[in-house]
Amino acid sequence: MKTAFSGIQPTAIPTIGNYLGALRNWVALSKTHRCVYSVVDMHAITVRQDPENLRKRVREVYALILACEPDPENTVLYVQSHVAAHAELSWILSNYTMFGELNRMTQFKDKSAKHADNINAGLFTYPVLQAADILLYDADVVPIGEDQKQHLELARDIALRFNGIYGNVFVVPEPMIPKTGARIMSLLDPARKMDKSDPNPGGYISMLDSRDAVITKCRRAVTDSGSDVRYDPVEKPGVSNLMTIYAICTGKTLEETESDFAGSGYGAFKTAVGEAADALLDPIRRRAQTLIQSPTHLDRLMAREAERAHAVADPVLRRVREVIGLLPRK
Ligand code: TRP
Repeated sequence: MKTAFSGIQPTAIPTIGNYLGALRNWVALSKTHRCVYSVVDMHAITVRQDPENLRKRVREVYALILACEPDPENTVLYVQSHVAAHAELSWILSNYTMFGELNRMTQFKDKSAKHADNINAGLFTYPVLQAADILLYDADVVPIGEDQKQHLELARDIALRFNGIYGNVFVVPEPMIPKTGARIMSLLDPARKMDKSDPNPGGYISMLDSRDAVITKCRRAVTDSGSDVRYDPVEKPGVSNLMTIYAICTGKTLEETESDFAGSGYGAFKTAVGEAADALLDPIRRRAQTLIQSPTHLDRLMAREAERAHAVADPVLRRVREVIGLLPRK
């Protein structure tokens, strides 16, 4: 079995877009791959976080991923900071990463612009920590969105450079980018991707939103002039986005969706989209809520999973320490 590694930042509750674009795929992969998934809290602190909020979010995001039910046999799901090897390998790899390489990263440029008052060194070396995440687990494939392609390319360059010096220490990972189609846009601005950190919660459907909230948000979604439910992303981006959500949630095609709502007008269509989204999210939300309500159980699970992750990462870290000449511990 090949190994897949991916991470998700606990900066906000994942949206239906994150579910359809990423988490759903994580679950599917767990049937064919050994999967290592991480809630990357150390990446999250590159942007200032409120401590209480961070604790809460990590538990919620962790519970939500569990609630999506990846195959437990093949999946390790852990909190990044619970496995100290990430920080250690990240420091080591930073000595094999060039300033110029990091300086070219578009996410760093975007985030520096967004957080101009806090352009810290962690934000700059963020991709090195990400490379450490991936390389620690001998990952063959890394399911990611288009926006993470550059970071994965850098992880590959670091692995190749390191291997070039010391021999085949790291597995060189391949990106796994889902073909376009499940790209869910903001409900209020269909030109932008649905974003879990959108300051206006009306733009996204969070995976923990109540049924009422989901339906209300869909009813308030921006639609286009006219009144026919027709798939046309250029002329009717708002309606087309809602159609995509409806089609994926119900398993129908876009043609079936079109004919389902022929002549019904936007109102009934938007309510139906909300109901379909709620039907998809409801079982996941219920399982997640149960977990969130028992934090001790959740903490026990996290501890066990951190042990499992450590068991995979530790031999890789030892290999690295040895080849570069660090004396063994103990
Ligand atoms: N940077 C990724 C994001 O913002 C999250 C992430 C951290 C990640 N480490 C990773 C993704 C390792 C894939 C592999 O989405």
